[in-house]
Amino acid sequence: MAARTGQPVVPFLIEALGLLEYRGYDSAGVSVRASSGLSATSHTTQRVDSLTAIFEPWPGSLLSGTGIGHTRWATHGAVNRVNAHPHLDCTGQISVVHNGIIENAAELRRDLESHGHVFTSDVDSEVICHLVEDGLIVEDDLAMALTAAAATLQGSWAVVVLDLETGRLAATAHRSPLVVAVVGDEVYAASDITAIGSRVVQFQALTDGDVVDLSGTPRWFRRGLPSAQPPLLQARAATASTGFAGFDDHMSKEIAEQPEVAARTIDALAPGVGDGSLWHGLVLPRFERVAVIGCGTSLNAGRVIASAFERLGGVPSTSFIASEAAETVIEPGTLMIALSQSGETADVLRAVDELDLSRSSLVAITNNEHSTLARRADSVLTCQAGPEIGVAATKTFVAQVVTGVATALSALVATGRMTPGEAARQVDDLKRLPDLLAHAIAVSSEALPPVVDSVLDEPGFLFLGRGSGIVFAAEGALKLKELSYRWAEHYPAGELKHGPLALIQEGTPVVVIDSGERRLESNIAEVEARGGRVIRIGGPGSTVPALGQSLTAPFPGAMDRWGPLESVVPLQMLARELAKALGHDVDKPRNLAKSVTVE
Ligand code: AGP
Repeated sequence: MAARTGQPVVPFLIEALGLLEYRGYDSAGVSVRASSGLSATSHTTQRVDSLTAIFEPWPGSLLSGTGIGHTRWATHGAVNRVNAHPHLDCTGQISVVHNGIIENAAELRRDLESHGHVFTSDVDSEVICHLVEDGLIVEDDLAMALTAAAATLQGSWAVVVLDLETGRLAATAHRSPLVVAVVGDEVYAASDITAIGSRVVQFQALTDGDVVDLSGTPRWFRRGLPSAQPPLLQARAATASTGFAGFDDHMSKEIAEQPEVAARTIDALAPGVGDGSLWHGLVLPRFERVAVIGCGTSLNAGRVIASAFERLGGVPSTSFIASEAAETVIEPGTLMIALSQSGETADVLRAVDELDLSRSSLVAITNNEHSTLARRADSVLTCQAGPEIGVAATKTFVAQVVTGVATALSALVATGRMTPGEAARQVDDLKRLPDLLAHAIAVSSEALPPVVDSVLDEPGFLFLGRGSGIVFAAEGALKLKELSYRWAEHYPAGELKHGPLALIQEGTPVVVIDSGERRLESNIAEVEARGGRVIRIGGPGSTVPALGQSLTAPFPGAMDRWGPLESVVPLQMLARELAKALGHDVDKPRNLAKSVTVE
């Protein structure tokens, strides 16, 4: 991110970096060129606030100026201060921050080193500083030097370059988000509008290949030639607080918000379901089949939505892991639904770019209406989740599923596959969800602590389900791995006897999502016969007892055909409680980032 401001720039950079930490929190750094001409660069692997120490000897009035900053999620090179951004060229004049990954960094580095450049880090991004350094020798124009540097790069990048001698600033992007905003004499740039949202109301998004010179009045270039300014976009004020609001961490706050998120989403969408009018203003082609695409929890939400199309409307539906989707043949008449809470996941964006969607339609379900995915889709359905800070997706899963199911119902009505009356009955079922989620939270809070105590020392977990429960088993295992750093696998329960049963020994925890499938009882008996410790979520005899009644009984109708959505609550809470008991940071699990912008 970057800022040029007449107000103190360091505190602003620190505050904004705090808002961007969800992109990575391995290390952070800033470079500042004050209006007085003083300049400095500071790196840390500790808290972002510690970056200020280097600037403290400076008189406060000198802190206005231009600065760039970065929080890192390591791709190349270990997590340490040397590999933290910003990176500097040989002269110490050119300071660079970079999101993304430079795929040809090794060869560029060899070439630059053979021409006398000296590298100080192991990071791919450092090549950009040296390439710009070379470009400035040819022509003393930062934007042109950056254009020349970008032309040699392969991979993905959002780059901001600060000339620490002159205060010149330039930016470019390719397959990685970057927005800029100008407010009078002040200039801001960030990979996400939320980081600069407190200072700007309008912004512009770079598209692939744009270079913008932010040294004075912004000048836009494409392929080295002046280009038109991109349209001004409206920054939406944050709809929810990003603090803890009395909770211990973001994750517990976000779990607690789920009933409210479900209610808000249903209220927003329900009026358009019964008559299919949710699609007014959106692109709903005739479709014969549905394909969903996403990663991690968003993929799991997509699987529930695919199941809703199939089980409620008889529409053949399939799901694709985004990072493996590029080779997939998309048949004409496919309604393609891409899910991503951030809307910036590189694997999803790559798949959307590379799949042949010419004879199908792309619907995005995202929690970020300003995201790259939202801009690329034919239709966008924005989730009503509010900001989700915890790296583990919780309330966005609920918002995605409810949004997707409402979308499915509306599409089924609009294409004559479901009567408005039946859709209205489905919506009535959906409207009970907020209460069910609230109940699941209350009951899990009571019931989980002894369960967690009993599995604290277990190295691995199995999660089982059948039918609509399988995807929830997958989501439970994903959460547990992500937060507790314990091994966890999920299986359709019937597959257990075909191999994984060999893993079961005395005390092995086996979490079973009981969606009421009769044959699950045999699978549970097989586990218990081998000494496995069954933790049943839902169903009679549940280890989380009251959920036994709440998970099955309230779903007599069709809603249980696409899944026991509230069973995600005890799964989220099991993972969180276990991680807490093991002393882990549940909001920032190791090695991960909230928004994964590299492939
Ligand atoms: C979920 O807890 C994870 N943090 C992760 O699987 C996440 O859902 C995935 O990276 C996709 O992110 P997106 O929704 O922003 O595309």
